[in-house]
Amino acid sequence: MPDKIIRSFEPKHAKLWSRQTVKLQHNLPSSPLFSEESLAKLIDELPADRVAINTMAPGMPKKDSWSYCDRSGRSGEEILNIVKNGRLWVNMTQLETVSDDFAELLESMFLEFEQYLPDFQTFKRSIGLLVSSPNSQVFYHCDVPGQSLWQIAGRKRVFIYPAEEPFLNPPEVENVIRARTEEEVNYESWYDEYAEIYDLEPGEMLHWRLNGPHRVVNLDSVNVSITTEHWTPEIRRSYAMNYGNGILRDFGLNPKSRSIEGLGFWSKVALTAAWRASGLHKGQAFKRTYKFKIDPSSAGGLVPLASE
Ligand SMILES: [Fe+2]
Repeated sequence: MPDKIIRSFEPKHAKLWSRQTVKLQHNLPSSPLFSEESLAKLIDELPADRVAINTMAPGMPKKDSWSYCDRSGRSGEEILNIVKNGRLWVNMTQLETVSDDFAELLESMFLEFEQYLPDFQTFKRSIGLLVSSPNSQVFYHCDVPGQSLWQIAGRKRVFIYPAEEPFLNPPEVENVIRARTEEEVNYESWYDEYAEIYDLEPGEMLHWRLNGPHRVVNLDSVNVSITTEHWTPEIRRSYAMNYGNGILRDFGLNPKSRSIEGLGFWSKVALTAAWRASGLHKGQAFKRTYKFKIDPSSAGGLVPLASE
């Protein structure tokens, strides 16, 4: 049995878990899984739809500048070179489906959590990798499942905001959960006064409250980070409640209850199931549109697609 991955779990963390942000130490930076060669190989091996390559404007968040980049058949090695010299955010998802090593790592991480947190019963777990340029960023958004961020290399500044109004409004989280927008929610620069701010170093990880809005700015270094996702029975209930409330809002109602128990909740579960079975949700889903393509010969490694 290899060494423990998590190095610093204390009794207080069990009490704080999923209620407040928890920061822990881990031993992943020493793993050979994150050599440049392994990262390039992963980019090459993952199906294209699981390697999202984005670019964005520098400086203060500009939501509209978040742009998908067409890989144009370029190799993992070429993409990594542009990450080093340009402004890319490469998000690889569901690594457990192509790599036994990552599947095993994911299993070990959650096995450790279960030892510390006997009530933490998870399913639909997934592991991803972020490889991103110095000073690149991800704008304000919230995620649907439970999330953790594990820093492997480089440094990033993580802003985490309260998962409640005015930082996150019910219609926004409902739209994110129903995949009608791509995780973005409204952001105002003054929100930062209410953010928890962490400069994440290699060997540190963060786990925060469900749907907690966050944004991430890389410091002046190439960053390699792992993301893990999980579901619990409670997260699934929260998903169904938000989904049901979103459907009711479509019909002009203004659902007030965010309870995940009782008759009202179970009628939302039934409504969500009926809506999804009807296929009505499919036409409303967010679709990626590509604005750039990878071109190692151009400055920044990108050319706008419209100029073709
Ligand atoms: Fe996120």
